[in-house]
Amino acid sequence: MKILVTGGCGFIGSNFIRYTLQQYPDAEIINLDKLTYAGNPENLADVADDPRYRFVQGDICDEKVVQPIFAGGVDYVFNFAAETHVDRSIGDPGGFILTDTYGVYVLLEAAREHGCKRFIQVSTDEVYGSIETGEFKETDPLMPRNPYSASKAGGDRLAYSYSCTYQLPILITRASNNLGANQYPEKVIPLFVTNAIDDLPLPLYGDGQNVRDWLYVEDHCTGLWAAAEKGIVGEVYNIGGGNETPNIVLTKSILEILGKPDSLIQPVTDRLGHDRRYALNCDKLRALGWQPRYDFRAGLEKTVQWYVNNDAWWRKIKSGEFRKYYEAHYKGREIASPPPE
Ligand code: NAD
Ligand code: DAU
Repeated sequence: MKILVTGGCGFIGSNFIRYTLQQYPDAEIINLDKLTYAGNPENLADVADDPRYRFVQGDICDEKVVQPIFAGGVDYVFNFAAETHVDRSIGDPGGFILTDTYGVYVLLEAAREHGCKRFIQVSTDEVYGSIETGEFKETDPLMPRNPYSASKAGGDRLAYSYSCTYQLPILITRASNNLGANQYPEKVIPLFVTNAIDDLPLPLYGDGQNVRDWLYVEDHCTGLWAAAEKGIVGEVYNIGGGNETPNIVLTKSILEILGKPDSLIQPVTDRLGHDRRYALNCDKLRALGWQPRYDFRAGLEKTVQWYVNNDAWWRKIKSGEFRKYYEAHYKGREIASPPPE
C-alpha cells in the first residue's frame, strides 16, 4: 500500500504517519513536505529510520517535484500540506492562496495524469463559516470568512470538481479543531499551555466566548482512514470531536490542569472577522462505523501532559523565529478588563 502524505512534518501529518505505520504493517509512506516554519522533521524522529518511510523535501506547488512521485505509483494520497494559521492569513494571505488552493491543483493534475486509488483532500470545518446555533452538515453552503478558510475552500471545491469532471477517486474531509502532541505553539492550546508553564500571560481574544469543537488528533486519524477505506468517492465527510467548548472554559481548564492561577488570563483585542462558533454534524462518518475515543477532558489532559514532558521540543521553537512573530502579533493588544467569566 503506497501512501503519499503531504505536509507530514506538521502537527496532524506527523501524528497521521506515526499512526499509519503502527496500524498498517504493509504501508509504505512518502512524506512530501516543504518544511515551512511549521514543518519540523523532529516530529518524526522516531520513525525516520523505518524502511517503510521516506521523506522528500519539496513544495506541492512545484510540479517537477510532484509529478515524479505520482509517476512512481501511489495508492492513497492524503493532502495535509497547507498554510494553517488564521492569524497569519489575516496579515499575509498570499502564501495561503498558493499552497491551499494552487498546490491542490498541482497534486490533482498529477493524480489525473498518473492515477491513484484514493485522493483524500484534508479540508476543514472553517470552510462553512460561523454558525450561531445547530450544526453544519456536509451539504451546507460554504461561507468561509477569512483568507485561510477561503483558500482551503478553494482547494476543497477544486478537488470536488476533479471528481465530477475527470472521475478522479476523491474524498474530502472537514475536521474540527485538533489537539494533541507536536502542534506548533502559535495555536491556542500549545500557546496557552506553554505560556502557563512559564507563568506568562495567556492572550485570550475578545470576550473569550468563541466556541470550538475539539477533536483529539488520533480521532482525526481514525476518521481519515474510515473515510478513505469506507467512504464514497466524490463525497464530503465531517470529522468533529463533539466537544464544543468556549475559549474561556478551555483556558481555565488548562490552568486548572497545570495548577496555575486564572490571573494569568490576559484579555486582548479580538481577531479580525473572528468566527464565533463551529459545530459539525458527523452522522455521515459515524454511519461508516467511526466514533471519537477521546472526550474533551481526556484529550486535553493527555495533550497538556505531552507539553509538560516535552519542553525541549517547544522551547527550541519558541526561542527562535517564533519570538519575533509573537511580539509583533500580540504587542499592545492588552485590554484592561477583568478576565471574562
Ligand atoms: P501545520 O501547520 O502544523 O503543518 C502544515 C505542514 O505542511 C508543515 O509541515 C509544512 O511544512 C507543510 N507545508 C506547508 N506548505 C507546504 C507546501 N507548499 N508544500 C509542501 N508542504 C507544505 O498544519 P496542521 O495543523 O497539521 O494541519 C494539517 C492539515 O489539516 C491542513 O490542511 C489543515 O488545513 C487541516 N486541518 C487542520 C486542523 C487543525 O485543527 N489543526 C483542523 C482541520 C483541518
Ligand atoms: O477548525 C479547524 C481549524 O482550527 C483549522 O482548520 C486551522 O488550521 C486551525 O488553526 C484551527 O483554527 P482556529 O483559528 O480555530 O485555531 P486557533 O488555535 O488559532 O484559535 C482557536 C481559538 O482560540 C479561536 O477562537 C481564537 C482563539 N485564540 C487563538 C489564539 C492563537 C485566542 O483567544 N488567543 C490566541 O492567542
